[in-house]
Amino acid sequence: MTTVAKLFETMEYGPAPESDAPALEWIKQHDGGRFGHFINGVWTSPSDGTYFETINPATKAVLARVAQGSKADIDAAVAAATAAGPGWAALQPHARARYLYALAREVQRHSRLLAVLESLDNGKPIRETRDLDIPLVARHFYHHAGWAQLRDTEFPGYVPVGVVGQIIPWNFPLLMVAWKVAPALAAGNTVILKPAEFTPLTALCFAEIAREAGLPAGVFNVVTGDGTTGKHLVEHPGVQKIAFTGSTEVGRIIRKATAGTGKKLTLELGGKSPFIVFQDADLDSVVEGVVDAIWFNQGQVCCAGSRLLVQEGIADRLTQKLRARMEKLRVGSPLDKAVDMGAIVAPVQLERIRGLVEKGVEEGAKMWQPSWACPTDGYFYPPTLFTDVSPAATIAQIEIFGPVLVSMTFRTPKEAVELANNTPYGLAASVWTENINLALDVAPKLKAGVVWINSTNLFDAASGFGGYRESGFGREGGREGMYEYLKPGWEEGRGKGEGYTTLSPASEQGITLPPSPIPLPGLPPIDRTYKLFIGGKQVRPDQGYSRKIAGPDGRVLGEVGEGNRKDIRNAVEAAHAAEGWGRGSGHTRAQILYFIAENLATRAQEFADRVGREEVEASVARLFTYAAWADKWDGAVHHTPIRGVTLAMNEPVGVLGLIAPDDFPLLGFVSLVAPAVAVGNTVIVVPSETHPLAATEFYTVLETSDVPDGVINVVTGAKDALAKVLAEHDDVEGIWYFGTATGVKTVELASAANMKRTWASARSRDWLDARQGEGRDFLRHASEVKNIWIPYGE
Ligand code: NAI
Repeated sequence: MTTVAKLFETMEYGPAPESDAPALEWIKQHDGGRFGHFINGVWTSPSDGTYFETINPATKAVLARVAQGSKADIDAAVAAATAAGPGWAALQPHARARYLYALAREVQRHSRLLAVLESLDNGKPIRETRDLDIPLVARHFYHHAGWAQLRDTEFPGYVPVGVVGQIIPWNFPLLMVAWKVAPALAAGNTVILKPAEFTPLTALCFAEIAREAGLPAGVFNVVTGDGTTGKHLVEHPGVQKIAFTGSTEVGRIIRKATAGTGKKLTLELGGKSPFIVFQDADLDSVVEGVVDAIWFNQGQVCCAGSRLLVQEGIADRLTQKLRARMEKLRVGSPLDKAVDMGAIVAPVQLERIRGLVEKGVEEGAKMWQPSWACPTDGYFYPPTLFTDVSPAATIAQIEIFGPVLVSMTFRTPKEAVELANNTPYGLAASVWTENINLALDVAPKLKAGVVWINSTNLFDAASGFGGYRESGFGREGGREGMYEYLKPGWEEGRGKGEGYTTLSPASEQGITLPPSPIPLPGLPPIDRTYKLFIGGKQVRPDQGYSRKIAGPDGRVLGEVGEGNRKDIRNAVEAAHAAEGWGRGSGHTRAQILYFIAENLATRAQEFADRVGREEVEASVARLFTYAAWADKWDGAVHHTPIRGVTLAMNEPVGVLGLIAPDDFPLLGFVSLVAPAVAVGNTVIVVPSETHPLAATEFYTVLETSDVPDGVINVVTGAKDALAKVLAEHDDVEGIWYFGTATGVKTVELASAANMKRTWASARSRDWLDARQGEGRDFLRHASEVKNIWIPYGE
């Protein structure tokens, strides 16, 4: 007799295709399948008449022809966005909120068309576009309608950045439109978007939807094309910010191209995210988790859990279970509602995956694929599992961006963390264990912007997304994502016009510096020769040189050590050794900052003789400000739509290089050091080049204030040269620079090596003004936000 159980055992899936007709019809309605750019609210032919094809990777059929954007096209789009800017920015927050709300509604109204179009153009299963991509797109616009409404109350004193250029990849084409466009418009900016060349169609469809929703012309523009189009956008002087998602390689090019231009920049780059399984994890859930981590979207996901790290005792059992599950996965037509995996986006990507898999085999790892064969009419690749992978193997280090999982084992939680952090990336991580203590002990130790506990690939507009290290900088989503599209209002009007002065080097300010460096006399140092301050000790500079510091009347006031590359290296080492500072409590850090303030106040007169009473008093007050913040710089618990909590934790960036401004010798120094250490960073500070003596005298205050060795290190000398060394250093995670325009460019360029976070400014700032010299802006630059997703329930 046939039982239900028997039916379940034998039942095969039949095809359940979604119709492609409405999407193909939509394409045809546009000039028979030929699309111009969307500029100033109208379809615009490419200036040089060039088009390229976009194909359906599941069938290799040509879907449409799309305009190749030239420099002239970018010029036209920037002109449109610039013209629309003032009107859009001047709207009441409520009016912008109404537009964003309308966009959310329109996306929902057209959700089926968008889902099918996305599957056709990208090759991802309709199940994903229908149930994940498009609902999340709508969610982003709803969420940001809220931020638009609350902008002036929640971000007082901030103004929009201006014209924003956004360059997106092909793996989540419309979702990336939403992640980028929603916060930009909510903040009051206007946008030029460049979709990926493989997947431009949903962005174009969205542009039309936005016009239907009544969005004013020029507020949102789309210019299609390849990397050269992106390059024109990045280099356009009329663009005030670039937001990019894509490969680390191109991210690095963009970092260099924008260096010194004053453009704001956010980069969401690649990853090699660990998926850590402890032996007490629920293995059946783990298997489903792995499916979602690496076979979702064919593994073409920046935060894909592509490195499976398994505790040794359960490795074989998990491998068996995974193989059994892989055998049941279905690869096929993306429009079939019952497939698990669709097509790889393009032949070049398929070749890249094949090449890396071959390399894995060559290097001796064991490769396994299911017994069935993939369809051959499109660009398909089967789910693939590597075991016996060495942590240094190419496939364990390079982002494959395909359905390929590499698996390694570990013994202890400590080893798991070391393996997990053993890549230059830091985007995401999953931790699987039934032991909440273990999970929450491990999560903060992982260098990743997002950590999912017993879950993976969860996203929401309320929770910021973005990476550490070579995975880029900046966050998308949530409150922190909004700040990426805003700037402090006090900067407004000081950009180029009245009141704007660029700090120039001492020589350009008419200050005569003595010939420097000059050799030390060799014998006991003369009075008032200040050494460097490294690892809690005053140390002689490596080369034994010092420089004379003259007062306004030309009289020599003292000498300071001439730091060099070796001194910076020593200071970075000392700062790393002191990293326990960030793991201590905010209360402890507050106590020490208060103590520094108290000791400075005791010696106020002595410092006032150098820099004036006003600056000393302001420095004491500023230390109090950050002592106050140290135990109040709280994170948040986000309302994401899961049964659980999402904790947004403010973590220190790590080791920071701080290059202090030349004016305000004491206050400028304190204004950088105090927020950085309040959040838990350890620092290497280069004080004012022209007036370093207040900072060097300050060592003695630090020595009496219980500051642990290595938390604050000071290297005096040629400011821009030392800044460059710090910016190039691979073990420095972030750098702040306040100085000349040339220095800003040097620092931003040099930082591209390890993609460190930079905050560099040549804008003159009144450090006595609390709006300009202290507060949340400083604390934000001192922090990385880590979002930890913790689902609960049995
Ligand atoms: P890509 O980084 O070259 O492309 C991303 C976007 O940048 C596209 O819109 C492209 O046209 C644009 N672009 C390319 N060169 C540019 C330039 N010089 N200036 C400005 N814009 C430029 O990524 P691609 O070639 O599509 O994929 C290559 C690899 O990158 C993948 O195999 C994968 O490993 C990684 N990738 C990572 C993504 C992520 O989300 N983290 C997304 C896409 C790719």
